[in-house]
Amino acid sequence: MAYSETKVVIGGLAHIPIIIGFFYLIRRQYSFGAMLRTGKNALSEKVKTSPSKANATAKPAPAPSKPTAPPAAKPVSTAKKPHADVPVNTYKPKAPFTGTVTENYSALKEGAIGKVQHITFDLSGGDPEFNYVEGQSCGILAAGEDAKGKPHRPRLYSIASTRYGDNFAGNTLSLCVRQLQYEKDGETVNGVCSTYLCNLSPGDKVKISGPVGKEMLLPEEEDSNIIMLATGTGIAPMRAYLRRMFEPTEIEKHKWNFKGKAWLFMGAPKTANLLYDEDFEHYKSKFPENLRYTKAISREQQNTKGGRMYIQDRVLEHAEEIFNMIENPKTHIYLCGLKGMEPGIDEAMTTAAAAKGLDWSELRPKLRKAGRWHAETY
Ligand SMILES: Cc1cc2nc3c(=O)[nH]c(=O)nc-3n(C[C@H](O)[C@H](O)[C@H](O)COP(=O)(O)OP(=O)(O)OC[C@H]3O[C@@H](n4cnc5c(N)ncnc54)[C@H](O)[C@@H]3O)c2cc1C
Ligand SMILES: NC(=O)c1ccc[n+]([C@@H]2O[C@H](COP(=O)([O-])OP(=O)(O)OC[C@H]3O[C@@H](n4cnc5c(N)ncnc54)[C@H](OP(=O)(O)O)[C@@H]3O)[C@@H](O)[C@H]2O)c1
Repeated sequence: MAYSETKVVIGGLAHIPIIIGFFYLIRRQYSFGAMLRTGKNALSEKVKTSPSKANATAKPAPAPSKPTAPPAAKPVSTAKKPHADVPVNTYKPKAPFTGTVTENYSALKEGAIGKVQHITFDLSGGDPEFNYVEGQSCGILAAGEDAKGKPHRPRLYSIASTRYGDNFAGNTLSLCVRQLQYEKDGETVNGVCSTYLCNLSPGDKVKISGPVGKEMLLPEEEDSNIIMLATGTGIAPMRAYLRRMFEPTEIEKHKWNFKGKAWLFMGAPKTANLLYDEDFEHYKSKFPENLRYTKAISREQQNTKGGRMYIQDRVLEHAEEIFNMIENPKTHIYLCGLKGMEPGIDEAMTTAAAAKGLDWSELRPKLRKAGRWHAETY
């Protein structure tokens, strides 16, 4: 069959949209497949996330649709911001969720200072569901009224359980709460919300808002290294991370199989105040290649200057190894607990960095910008 030159040119041009469409389909298929393989959608892992529920921040990834007219050569970006699927403020303080206490027991051993309770709430029946991930916090609205006759403002507490909860059923949330007590004018003052929480009994109904916060989330990469610096109840998010990494039933439940190095520095006043110590020792014995656990027991141990042993003193002792880890871009550092620990940590890091010829005041903002320095102190 004879073709004129014009017909050949027109025929060739007519194939261009088909070729573009073909590459568009391949690219789209590949990106979607990659997301499924890596399981990067934070909540896709958790069966209880319901796409039908009105949780605006936890939308499921859109299903790939058939392209009708391929957009000429315009690149389709399937890249999502990290943690884009993590729910935030599903329940606001003005319209909180009502949870039910299932457990409330002491997290301390005999002879410990003060009162710290591990408290678990049943979150079943929420519409939308109260979903959260490791590293988030929630708000608690104590019953009763303040001195002005107004409802108490919410107080924030770090969630100490993984998204699957302590019972692995995916419908509970646990907290680790220290009762605030201090002396004023010769009298003991009890903190409003911490006292309310510490005195709750199973069956009690509690108003909970949240979840909140994306500062303390774990990275999605399974080969990340995680350095954790906690004082007292600042251990709460770390407990969630460590359960996610090393608790056998957790590992069975999810597709996130931690392959990196985790190192927990824990500061407590006495051995009896070490929180979840047996669990962490157990994880360490099961995963000696993946977990290190270093304790600073301030009122039983002394630093090199003869003062109380704080976690920053432990950081200094291990400065070289810590900095070797930090040089690896897969290393993240998490800090949680007393605000007062931050200057001490900074000082220790400055000294440690200087020994390697590095300037911590320059390095720290860079780590933060890279999303590798995570701090929540109070
Ligand atoms: C993100 C975040 C996460 C948190 N996570 C946890 C957690 O996991 N566990 C936990 O136990 N706490 C946690 N907290 C702290 C918690 O939110 C409350 O601040 C704490 O429980 C005290 O609240 P309260 O209602 O008992 O005290 P309040 O009745 O609110 O009393 C606190 C007030 O008492 C005064 N006060 C406190 N100490 C003294 C003192 N020594 N002398 C004089 N006045 C004093 C101060 O004015 C202070 O603002 C977290 C805080 C934040 C911001
Ligand atoms: N996400 C958050 O923001 C978050 C989460 C959980 C808890 N918190 C807050 O963190 C605090 C934890 O307190 P806690 O009562 O649970 O702890 P705790 O049991 O009293 O233990 C705190 C430990 O830190 C030591 N410490 C005191 N000052 C320090 C400093 N400057 N640097 C380093 N270590 C220091 C204490 O030593 P000594 O007492 O012996 O001096 C003690 O060993 C609470 O205020 C709580 O509200 C915040």
